[in-house]
Amino acid sequence: MRAAVLYGIDQLIKIEDFELESSVPGKSLIQVQYCALNHRDFWITKGQYSGLKFPIILGSDICGYYKGKEVIANPSMSWGGNEKVQSKSYSILGLPEHGGLAEFVYSNPEYIYNKPAHLSAAQAASLPLAGLTAYRSLITRAKVNAEDKVFISGIGGGVALFALQFAVQSGAEVYVSSSDDRKIEKAITLGAKDGFNYKQEDWPKSFLQKYDGASVIVDGAGGPDFAKLVKIAYPAARIVVYGATNGAWSNVVIQQVFWKQLNILGSTMGSDLDFSNMLQFVEEKKIIPVVDQIFNLSQINQAFEYMSSGKQFGKIVIAVSN
Ligand SMILES: NC(=O)c1ccc[n+]([C@@H]2O[C@H](COP(=O)([O-])OP(=O)(O)OC[C@H]3O[C@@H](n4cnc5c(N)ncnc54)[C@H](OP(=O)(O)O)[C@@H]3O)[C@@H](O)[C@H]2O)c1
Repeated sequence: MRAAVLYGIDQLIKIEDFELESSVPGKSLIQVQYCALNHRDFWITKGQYSGLKFPIILGSDICGYYKGKEVIANPSMSWGGNEKVQSKSYSILGLPEHGGLAEFVYSNPEYIYNKPAHLSAAQAASLPLAGLTAYRSLITRAKVNAEDKVFISGIGGGVALFALQFAVQSGAEVYVSSSDDRKIEKAITLGAKDGFNYKQEDWPKSFLQKYDGASVIVDGAGGPDFAKLVKIAYPAARIVVYGATNGAWSNVVIQQVFWKQLNILGSTMGSDLDFSNMLQFVEEKKIIPVVDQIFNLSQINQAFEYMSSGKQFGKIVIAVSN
């Protein structure tokens, strides 16, 4: 089958004929139409992910055909029986097992779901990983409600955008940050009340001049700017952390954390229940994932380059066979 194969760290991905195992016990083949990229795929190409193995076909998010129907797959595998935390055998589609940047991908049938009817195949491929991460962060972990003032950092990101859409549909008031004023404008058209450019050092001051704080904060960036999120948090706020694009936290005023009685909540992907709840929420509220750009499989290296430029607003999707 035609596949995008990564042979090592910092190497260009090769498009080639690749032979998958002819069968895998307990798994079925899905014919892939579209595969969306996540920052996870990029970290793997850079060697910044645990459990690396090569050659590997990346791609956690697919929409394709299974038994004559259009389907998507939950990439969050072997979560286990504890809703609070994933099991030791937990894994994500696209490493260590081959993912969806290929004509076919194996999935356990229990992870295969019908494509939401209101979505195109490219939109549906954009949903699983980022939608699941945003759902667990915002709804399962932070338990967002209509009284909340929600602040979402880096709104150009795939997870951040779903968090915005889910928070708006939950009735909360939502503020965002971005490095790009045009992305802030787009977020406002999606229902955000206001936005702040995190490239401006003193953005928390501007925020606090207009608003008295945020009761829920959703962050995938980490790094030195995390201290600013602690600053704008209401007393007893819930700060959910799902990523560390900018590395370790620094300069956090620890006194602000304990004096404000803050709740810092880690969140990763989600359970099978989170996934089916997320799908139901998306179908009920008719949420449409934001697709930034669709590349062909042969343009896979350009697609990764585009992701690393950070210019995207929403998901980068690869047309595999359509
Ligand atoms: N734990 C999990 O289960 C899980 C799941 C998915 C993703 N993640 C992690 O979460 C992070 C985001 O993933 P993604 O796939 O949504 O990424 P993405 O779509 O590639 O988006 C990355 C975004 O990060 C934002 N950003 C960069 N520097 C920032 C800063 N200093 N402050 C605030 N935002 C900043 C940028 O937003 P602007 O363009 O608006 O500036 C950029 O668009 C990655 O580190 C990823 O590995 C974790």
